Amino acid sequence: MADEKQNERMEKLVSLCKRRGFIFPASEIYGGLNGFWDYGPMGAELKRNIKNAWWHDMVIDRPIGPDGQEVSIVGLDSAIIQNPRTWEASGHLAGFTDPMVDCKECKARFRADQVFVLGWISEPELRRFNEEVRVLFIPEGESLSQIDTEEVERLLKHEVRRAPKPYLKSVVASEAGEAERNCKLSSREAKHLGKTFPMKPYRLTDFVVTFANRLPPAPCPGCGKEGCLTSPRQFNMMFKTFVGASEDSASAAYLRPETAQGIFNNYLNVLNTSRVKVPFGIAQVGKAFRNEINPRNYTFRSREFEQMELEFFVPPDKGREWYEFWRSQRIEWYKKHGLRSDHLRPREQGKDELAHYSSACTDIEYLFPFSDEPQELEGVAHRGCYDLSRHQEFSGKDMSFFDDEAWLADQPKFADKSKEEQTKIKNAEPYRYIPHVIEPSAGVDRFTLAVLCEAYTEDQAPDEKGVMQTRVVMKIHPRLAPIKVAVFPLVRKDGMPEIATELYGRLKRRWVCDYDEKSAVGRRYRRHDEIGTPFCVTVDGQTKEDGTVTIRERDSMTQTRVKLEETEAWIAERLTV
Ligand code: GAP
Repeated sequence: MADEKQNERMEKLVSLCKRRGFIFPASEIYGGLNGFWDYGPMGAELKRNIKNAWWHDMVIDRPIGPDGQEVSIVGLDSAIIQNPRTWEASGHLAGFTDPMVDCKECKARFRADQVFVLGWISEPELRRFNEEVRVLFIPEGESLSQIDTEEVERLLKHEVRRAPKPYLKSVVASEAGEAERNCKLSSREAKHLGKTFPMKPYRLTDFVVTFANRLPPAPCPGCGKEGCLTSPRQFNMMFKTFVGASEDSASAAYLRPETAQGIFNNYLNVLNTSRVKVPFGIAQVGKAFRNEINPRNYTFRSREFEQMELEFFVPPDKGREWYEFWRSQRIEWYKKHGLRSDHLRPREQGKDELAHYSSACTDIEYLFPFSDEPQELEGVAHRGCYDLSRHQEFSGKDMSFFDDEAWLADQPKFADKSKEEQTKIKNAEPYRYIPHVIEPSAGVDRFTLAVLCEAYTEDQAPDEKGVMQTRVVMKIHPRLAPIKVAVFPLVRKDGMPEIATELYGRLKRRWVCDYDEKSAVGRRYRRHDEIGTPFCVTVDGQTKEDGTVTIRERDSMTQTRVKLEETEAWIAERLTV
């Protein structure tokens, strides 16, 4: 839990975001809608700058890869609604679910595992469970319903709490069958448990649903009344809609819960139409939708949000190298844009936490003021060949990549082999394979929120009368700042507005600028401090005499006199990242 000071800081930030036009509750005039947010004029610029910076650094000015070559990445803008088979292949239709209970009294809805499990495990443990879908291992030959209530209690009380690692493994796709095939206890884990190998995996959530009616009745966490909760029902987090005029199951479709699947759907199109070969990446920025049960922490967990996702396709034997490359690239990217290193934490998921298809995953976490624990900004996952293999299976399209250059170079080595043997070699690794995927997946809204949290600063500065006052300043990285330059005439006379307007006209061709001649200049500075404008240029009485203007820097508040005609170059030099 965040302490009082952190809560106060968060409250001040939320109020500033409203007051200065960064973030508003969506459809506020109708009372808002939980989990949805609108970005005002400043927020829209900030978000656009974040997306542009990511796109620029991924697709335009691409980094140098571990092989010393510029990495190959192309962009994509796929549809939000894809053929529903996509979500069967990805596992979202079967597995992107939470068991829910409704309160018949207060009509609130809760996650069943939260309601029923809290009696046995601590809240932090539960929070960890809820971040991922978990599986519970049951000895083979026994089914969930065969296990009696005492055993359930024992498992929850002792095994889950004391030795969660061997018992619980995370699965993202989470279909039980898939989990069964892929999640095997190692013999070391089995020995530790004194169980005979192998065991059957069950998701913790399924487990809770199965046993809900055998667990002691839980009171409603909302109104506190007992005996008013319905039985748990599975609830898919994808927003459902219908394509065309009829609303039947044949026309059902879903708003995408992640942008990634649009990339996998287009992997072959891009491979066949662009001049790319593995290793290469496809980048996409766009909206994603999740019907989160408990949207919270301002914009952190929303129902509509934006993602910046890169799916980077690599040869199977180069996965680890590229995974490490992208992990450090992405951490550095956040630091480069102003997030303090001691607020950032790359957290490598433990083997027991990993999705069953994933061999490694690092959550890049940020210490938001609303929590004591750093929270996920971005996940960098090594997804193996899971996604392309699943789409190959469901679409019937061959997703393999053939490295013709490598084959042509090596072919002479196999000259003494028969034609059949050569074909066999040619159609296997390292020449033909389903690429593995490294996925750095970032949330635009989460990074926007991190930038705002990091930027919020209070310091002491003299007002017009020289009295020290608390100044609120948003120290947003200049590359991301919504407005780069504000131009003021000191007063609305003596030819100053004319010179300032002319200068503004020149600067706005290059950057988002603001022209402001209302109120005292000190108040104009304060407004731009709260918006995060890095530079304010003032045309004053001296401008007419010696052709110079004052440029005030936001963070240091230092004022420098610069020649009017050199203003643009002076600012440009300081805005370059
Ligand atoms: N394709 C992988 C994927 O979608 P994820 O961890 O579910 O992985 C990636 O989401 C990122 O999207 C998260 O790190 C987070 O920044 C953002 N994100 C996920 N759910 C969100 C939500 N409900 N509200 C805001 N951002 C969210």
